[in-house]
Amino acid sequence: MEEKELILIIDFYGQYNQLIARRVRECNVYSEIVPYKISIEEIKKKKPKGIIFTGGPASVYAENAPKCDKEIFNLGIPILGICYGMQFMTDTLGGKVQKAEKREYGEIVVNIDNTSKLFDGFGKENVCLMSHTDFVQKVPHGFKVIGNTNNCPIAAMENEEKNFYGIQFHPEVNNTIDGTKIINNFLFKVCKCKGNWKMSSFVKEQVEYLKDKIGEKKVLCALSGGVDSSVAAVLLHKAIGKNLTCIFVDHGLLRKNEGDEVEQIFKKQFDINLIRVDAEEQFLEKLKGVTDPEAKRKIIGEEFIRVFEKEAKKIGAVDYLVQGTIYPDVIESGLGESAKIKSHHNVGGLPDCVDFKEIIEPLRDLFKDEVRKTGLELDIPENLVYRQPFPGPGLAIRIIGEITKEKLEILRDADYIFREEVKNAGLEKELNQYFAVLTNIRSVGVMGDGRTYDYTIALRSVKTTDFMTATWSKIPYEVLEKVSSRIVNEVNHVNRVVYDITSKPPATIEWE
Ligand code: XMP
Repeated sequence: MEEKELILIIDFYGQYNQLIARRVRECNVYSEIVPYKISIEEIKKKKPKGIIFTGGPASVYAENAPKCDKEIFNLGIPILGICYGMQFMTDTLGGKVQKAEKREYGEIVVNIDNTSKLFDGFGKENVCLMSHTDFVQKVPHGFKVIGNTNNCPIAAMENEEKNFYGIQFHPEVNNTIDGTKIINNFLFKVCKCKGNWKMSSFVKEQVEYLKDKIGEKKVLCALSGGVDSSVAAVLLHKAIGKNLTCIFVDHGLLRKNEGDEVEQIFKKQFDINLIRVDAEEQFLEKLKGVTDPEAKRKIIGEEFIRVFEKEAKKIGAVDYLVQGTIYPDVIESGLGESAKIKSHHNVGGLPDCVDFKEIIEPLRDLFKDEVRKTGLELDIPENLVYRQPFPGPGLAIRIIGEITKEKLEILRDADYIFREEVKNAGLEKELNQYFAVLTNIRSVGVMGDGRTYDYTIALRSVKTTDFMTATWSKIPYEVLEKVSSRIVNEVNHVNRVVYDITSKPPATIEWE
């Protein structure tokens, strides 16, 4: 088997670190983010083809500025320092870093030396995102300047002999024109990578690895129907077939037809050992009279564990429990340490209730878009692979106030119409999350000759990349009009539809 090429990204707490890792992977080279405290021994063990130092908020002269072991410059491995990374390189190798009077920020024209390998294929200048106060005032011995701006005399530098490069700007963000080309040049012209990291090879490697590791042992997986757990389950099934058992707890709070679809895909298409537990009555009973959002979440979380535990007991002891942890979870929960179990309601707490020996996380090295690509590679239907996020507590937090069977029915139908019209309008991939909410408001309307006193449905749709902040989507009026008219005509007990035009913050995406 071909050796896996690796680019090590040394993390100095920059805000774009994940982006750097993704850009490298987009060039078909596998990359890993590691803390700056990583030991030289560990670096050697990983045998990287190249190293990238990230940016970071510190000043190299500050007390406690993050610095990695100097030995890193004696390993004979190419290094690209970005922003703080460049300053760290300069300071360590004997150059000089200085504080500027004014911070330089924005998309700025950089004059570049396009005879450098790093800028191969570029013109004489390039617009780049600069964001710094400190700057390199004197390059270390053996380096030459290969870029400058009006305010920054040394915006890029190289030591071609040692394969060390430094850039003051950020190639990983879109504001830098052709930034990926710079990364590409570093990977292929400097580090001499081949670019053999592909999702198809990931699937093949993982299947081999899992087969080998698990052998004939038994594996259990909690399937939610979301992207991560689905891809993890199918990957494992490909490796070990019937030795995998999936438990799908249907709490009755899913969207229209969703439970059946999950069953259809996993049982019929993949022939996976799937146990679907129909627990709707049980959940509704527990939720009777409950109106507080956090109380709903707590009840659903606890009940989920109870139901899962009961099913798992029937199966008995297993060797492994599968979790759909992905790379951002690993990074967020502390670099280099093992991932903490997600607090997401449908996996949080599970390990305590299952009798197992070890957790398996087959997707822990992948970003979300790579998980989706893996899903497609595994023939999981596109509509599941690109499914919008759906909260663990499901429709329970989209019905304001008490949850009843009737309200669930109303919400499911309204939500289905909204999703159908978004699809018809070709907006599916543009909107990051969109759904209907059943408000607790009833208002007066008129239908035919009669007075009605019925529910108000709120439509919610947002654009976001990280779901931490979000802006409300400017859905065309014609689409909203169609959705509204269909909902009031087709769904009983709804006589009014409103559109939520608040962003996050100050509102949250969900209403509860
Ligand atoms: P908020 O409403 O906090 O939502 O702006 C941000 C993202 O998180 C999802 N969300 C949840 N997901 N359990 C989940 O698994 C929950 O209790 C929960 N609450 C919110 C929400 O759908 C959005 O994508």
